[in-house]
Amino acid sequence: ETIDWEPEDAGKSGYDHYMLKEIHDQPRAIRRCLRGRLRELDGAVEIDELGGLDRPDRVHFVACGTSYHASLYGARLFRERGIPSTAFLASEYDVGKIPIDEGTAVIGVTQSGETADTLAALREANSAGATTVTVSNVVGSSASREADHVLYIRAGPEISVAATKTFASQQVALTLLASAITGACDRDTLEALRSLPDHVQSVLDQSRTHEIAAEYADAEMDAYFFIGRGYAAPVALEGALKLKEISYAHAEGFPAGELKHGPLALVTERTPVFAVVTGDSRAETMLGNINEVSSRGAPVVAVTDSPEPLAADVDHVVPIPETDPRLAPILANVQLQLVAYWIARELGRSIDKPRNLAKSVTVQ
Ligand code: G6P
Repeated sequence: ETIDWEPEDAGKSGYDHYMLKEIHDQPRAIRRCLRGRLRELDGAVEIDELGGLDRPDRVHFVACGTSYHASLYGARLFRERGIPSTAFLASEYDVGKIPIDEGTAVIGVTQSGETADTLAALREANSAGATTVTVSNVVGSSASREADHVLYIRAGPEISVAATKTFASQQVALTLLASAITGACDRDTLEALRSLPDHVQSVLDQSRTHEIAAEYADAEMDAYFFIGRGYAAPVALEGALKLKEISYAHAEGFPAGELKHGPLALVTERTPVFAVVTGDSRAETMLGNINEVSSRGAPVVAVTDSPEPLAADVDHVVPIPETDPRLAPILANVQLQLVAYWIARELGRSIDKPRNLAKSVTVQ
């Protein structure tokens, strides 16, 4: 596959930072990921480059950083379609100790296609006889050459160290992959996929996250917590990762049910909590978790597609459009990317090139 980039793909297009430009690229990136892969007539998913990839008995995802969060999301998609599936941090993938065979599909998710741990995991999986698939943004990258099959996410070049548009594109690509492999094509989800670029655009157009950032970008804060359930749980982890990467603030994400197994001990009025409350995230249980932290004085910001029932229990509501429950966290994540961006900007950080971090990590 070759991908033709527009000249503006490589520049900042008038934005102050590549990160902000890449956040705003997301509608276009998602459209490109979908192009030619949704069959108009029967709505099925068709991915030309995956010819010959059979339905596996089980799926192992291997990935690092943001790509690992996309993998947690992808593993849930496969499990929901009846295929046992686990996401592994590539650095913890221990082929010798996990049963794998040709019925196992090992899916390496890597934006750059050059991450050493992910490459090593794919290599080991290949030598153990697994069927390997790389999901990457870079045509001809090492990981794409290593695997039996490649699915390109087509997000366009990502310059900022913190991954943004590639995360959204990975989530979309994994949604397509899960539908294509299992032949389970859920019409509502595919219809919602088609509308996703417009929904992301409306989030970008209406976001007021700079106001939230102005309120909470404060050196007096001890930490920032991010919580979510179900498909929103990986987005909570990703929200925290974005904030720590570019603002250097202590930020942690948890599946919301874990709060009371430790993190709650840290909650005070100096730990703002961002709660992602979307369709599948069991709003009532989330409300219980929100009350656990707000009763300890923590300010709560809810990123949600159902603002009404929550408004009275939280300090701020950051709304997102209603859509398919599996896709709603993608929209919530756009708001969290912007929160991280504006907080880092308030603090005067080096947004595109944070200290100590590299875009692509080629050592184990
Ligand atoms: C580095 C980057 C992260 C990225 C991770 C995995 O840590 O700074 O943004 O998520 O590597 O990269 P990959 O290219 O494998 O997706």
